[in-house]
Amino acid sequence: MNPVRSPKKILITAALPYANGYIHLGHLAGAYLPSDMYARYQRLKGRDVLFLCGSDEHGVAITVTAEKEKMSPRDVIDRYHHANREAFERFGMSFDRYSRTSSPLHHETTKEFFMEFHRRGLLKQKSEKQLYCEFDRMFLADRYVEGTCPVCGSAEARGDQCENCGSWLNQTDLIDPRCKICGRTPVVKDTTHLYFPLGDFQERLEAYVKERDARDGWKENVLRYCESWFREGLEDRAVTRDLSWGVPVPVPGFEQKVVYVWFDAVLGYITAAREWAKEKGSEEKWRHYWQDQNTKYVAFIGKDNVVFHCIVFPAMLMAWNDGRTDTYVLPENVPANEFLNLEGQKFSKSKGWGIDVRDFLNYFPADYLRYGLATSLPESRDSDFTLRDFQARVNNELADILGNFVNRTLAFAHREFDGKIPPMTGMPGPQDKEFLARLESAPDAVGGLFEQYRFRDGVAEAMNLARAANKYFNDQEPWKTAKTDRAACAATIHHCLQAVYTLGILFEPIVPRIAEKIRAMLKAETPVPGSWDSAGKPVLKAGHSLAKPEILVSKIEDAQLHSVMKDLGLETGPSSLQAHNAQQRTMITIDDFKKIDLRLAKIISAENIQKSEKLLKLKVQIGEEQRQIIAGIAKTYEPERLIGKFVVVVANLQPAKLMGEESQGMLLAANDPEGRLSIVTIEDDLPTGSVVR
Ligand code: MF3
Ligand code: ZN
Repeated sequence: MNPVRSPKKILITAALPYANGYIHLGHLAGAYLPSDMYARYQRLKGRDVLFLCGSDEHGVAITVTAEKEKMSPRDVIDRYHHANREAFERFGMSFDRYSRTSSPLHHETTKEFFMEFHRRGLLKQKSEKQLYCEFDRMFLADRYVEGTCPVCGSAEARGDQCENCGSWLNQTDLIDPRCKICGRTPVVKDTTHLYFPLGDFQERLEAYVKERDARDGWKENVLRYCESWFREGLEDRAVTRDLSWGVPVPVPGFEQKVVYVWFDAVLGYITAAREWAKEKGSEEKWRHYWQDQNTKYVAFIGKDNVVFHCIVFPAMLMAWNDGRTDTYVLPENVPANEFLNLEGQKFSKSKGWGIDVRDFLNYFPADYLRYGLATSLPESRDSDFTLRDFQARVNNELADILGNFVNRTLAFAHREFDGKIPPMTGMPGPQDKEFLARLESAPDAVGGLFEQYRFRDGVAEAMNLARAANKYFNDQEPWKTAKTDRAACAATIHHCLQAVYTLGILFEPIVPRIAEKIRAMLKAETPVPGSWDSAGKPVLKAGHSLAKPEILVSKIEDAQLHSVMKDLGLETGPSSLQAHNAQQRTMITIDDFKKIDLRLAKIISAENIQKSEKLLKLKVQIGEEQRQIIAGIAKTYEPERLIGKFVVVVANLQPAKLMGEESQGMLLAANDPEGRLSIVTIEDDLPTGSVVR
């Protein structure tokens, strides 16, 4: 058998999140929950697992945040690194090490790779045109420039990547580039960088993907991304940047530059292993995973990271391995998830749409969230997370199926059998046999799906077992046999308790804390490596005494859900969440505020717009000037009622067309979540055109 097929050693990594923001539910559904389920499952299978993650702390993602939040990059990464590590812990991530790329050891790892490539003459020096902002006097590396994506037309593409279509861009390809700091149009200037010869690896990379897919079954979406990269043809890529935040380039003449963030970030996985080994007191132990060709290495990521993990990182490892005897394993598989949406909308930091893990966990136990996400993972296409679905999953499945089965079984054993596992006497009937067979095959059925990275299906299969167990309980009617046939009743409860045990193991990767409670109620031993395989066997002995049952999962009431949705700003869509987040997070300066030119205006005419229930066409007087403003207030105001009213308008808003009519400004109005609305007006008549502050 192929050693990688039934590996003893498994190295698991989850993409290193940028330490420039809080972890949100979309992140969890992408790389983190799947990797954690996989790691926990593999440990129970008895495999020697090393599970690594950490903060990605270099690059423009960090420095742009630092500028925006008026902090130093160091302060930014410290704040988010610690916050995210804690959020992961609360969520139940079982990393063996959560590292960070600002650590001295990581700088060492990065320099080692860089110098190895440089010494061997792999890195080519080239002078190329780059965008340069004359106002800010700097080259606009990566995310310092934004513009329109030449591939998909999204207006929010960044210098190195378009998040909308996933294209990896050269910044000079951007249409209409803008400096991220000042908004000005940059100029093009020459600068010298070192390039990694990615193009030279194309053939080998194609063969690599093909071989690993044949061996371990890569996901369709990942293969599609890779194919499109290969079809376009791989090119040399600059691996240095004109920035000051990052790993300094260790090559003479390049000291003022830093290593490209993606070059160092992927090596963070190696650093994390080195740190782990150091902490364990055996410094070389990391090689036992990274540098043994019997290790199966699985890299969990989100779809926007595919090219870096399926192409760039393997190419770097190949390049290293070519000239060395201490060779690394390449990813055996790179399971990437698509994106999770929230209530039908994309997570968006800039639009303030999303839920941070730490916020969510103030309302609900982590295991509820794990289950809710596990049942809606975006495994093959984008999926949607809604709080309604979340509530339904928790109430109808976690509580009504799993929780109910465990509780009724234990309660019954306490009532009828003195809190002990009743003995088996007599022969099992056909239904018992069928149920026992189902239990016995469940670990392989669930595990087989996990092995194929089909976590949603695996979770559904585990829940199906709980469903089948409830059905068995119902069909056997132990409450009747308790009076008529004690032996049959004992057998039923005996089998049900075995099933409770099975569920207490199979649910461990999914909802570890609930699973622990289940095992505590059974007074079962702590699971050990290998417990997965025996989980379906009759492990519990007759006569073993049980703990008192406690409620495993309590339901989420409608009222609670509503108040949480309100707290999280989810009730009326992105605008209210944005308001909520704005309130919590973003402070603006007085200068920001002064950019808005607010003026007093008087409404001189108002009329309905045909075919629009919402819009009114207004003429307003602002000092000497008359303007036309289209306002969405028709549901509240009759046109006649408005004439002569004083209102406040934004006078320097770019004109826009609404229902074919030009609007030359905006009128201020207040509205509440129920949709009630009131225009903003003033107390005393002042001249129109007066400045409002
Ligand atoms: N920080 C990147 C992101 O959030 C992921 C980096 S993964 C690594 O998209 F492997 F490069 F570290
Ligand atoms: Zn600029």
